[in-house]
Amino acid sequence: MQEQLVGSVDDLKSGNRLIVSINGTEVSVFQSSGRYFAFQNRCLHQGGPVGEGALMPKVTAVLGRGREVLEERFDDNIVHLVCPWHGWEYELPSGECVADRRLRLPSFEVRVKEGKVYVVS
Ligand code: FES
Repeated sequence: MQEQLVGSVDDLKSGNRLIVSINGTEVSVFQSSGRYFAFQNRCLHQGGPVGEGALMPKVTAVLGRGREVLEERFDDNIVHLVCPWHGWEYELPSGECVADRRLRLPSFEVRVKEGKVYVVS
């Protein structure tokens, strides 16, 4: 296992992304609510730069008795990474595709030490 220095915690404030190469794989590194993530920057749909997409709370539908949608709400406890090309969504921290839970973005462990961010490969 190797640690690769990719930047500092300051580099990842305000939703910034670091796009780095880990053993020839393009990886997006970012933080959300103080947790750090590193995913392959290639969407499982058509290869879009998924790691550069928006981070959004999960949308939950409130259904009526006839299963009609009465209301939609944000669930701030669950964050989705949304691919900028066609909107496929991946749940954090697992990287599971919301539309097909059999699919999962390849991920890497991230370690933070003394303000520096490392990706483990
Ligand atoms: S390439 Fe990501 S949603 Fe299509």
